[in-house]
Amino acid sequence: MKVITSVNELVEKAAEVRAEGKSIGLVPTMGALHEGHLSLIRRARAENDVVFVSIFVNPVQFNNPDDLEKYPRTLDSDLELIGDDADYVFAPSVEEVFPVPPTEEYHFGIVEEVMEGSARPGHFNGVGVIVGRLLRWVNPDKAYFGEKDYQQIAVIRELKRQLGVPAEIVCCPIVREPNGLAMSSRNRRLTPHQFEVAAQIHRILEESKKLPDVPQIKQFVEEEIAKIPEFKLDYFEMADDQTLQSVQSFDDAEGVMGFITVYVGDVRLIDNIHYC
Ligand code: PAJ
Repeated sequence: MKVITSVNELVEKAAEVRAEGKSIGLVPTMGALHEGHLSLIRRARAENDVVFVSIFVNPVQFNNPDDLEKYPRTLDSDLELIGDDADYVFAPSVEEVFPVPPTEEYHFGIVEEVMEGSARPGHFNGVGVIVGRLLRWVNPDKAYFGEKDYQQIAVIRELKRQLGVPAEIVCCPIVREPNGLAMSSRNRRLTPHQFEVAAQIHRILEESKKLPDVPQIKQFVEEEIAKIPEFKLDYFEMADDQTLQSVQSFDDAEGVMGFITVYVGDVRLIDNIHYC
């Protein structure tokens, strides 16, 4: 595996690989890698000739400066974890990616107006800025994203349409800790006690599947979260899995998912679940 820090070299390498007729898989990340990221990288490895991973804590997608500052940066151990599962790791500086402040302005329509889009103004534009640049620089055959950030995938599918790039957007299942907590780089900021308590998020969502309708599920999840003193619910939404618009009943959409965001201390955790 080779580490690349310059955009020019990234573009050249990707063009070289393409000229050799090889397929390219791209896995964008912000580092602090865990098994969730590694599952994307291994899938990219299995499905492509050459794998590019990016590691870049993208400042323009953070709407909270404190969150940006506290975001874990662990490049050396990330590179060790990747090992030979990737051919190239693009790990640029902020100045390399943004020699001048970015001016791209995306509008992703209804999929960005709800949930993370309304809770974190500017967040998805920031994701679009970096993922759009990566897709154009690398021009992969396939780009891999995790279902943990389900709304992000919907936004990136729309970004792909707007940019007209050929990459197939591949959606990968959530990888969880043995206790059920969705793996996240932010989990490193939880105390051991918070880490155990945070497992209740997934347990509550799983239990809610036993209930018959949307209002009962919403009430159950809200009440169960409120019972746990370490939790502060940001939102729980039940939405159409395609448009991400709220549903009031299972008849409102073919596929319905639940989307939750909970603060555990000052750490904001997200998770989701498929109902039907
Ligand atoms: P990051 O949070 O590092 O996540 C990188 C990719 O790993 C995303 O596609 C995310 O959905 C996926 N991922 C994270 N945790 C996962 C888990 N437990 N199971 C499966 N996949 C998981 O998402 C971002 O970075 C950024 O927004 C990025 C797309 C890189 C743009 O900056």
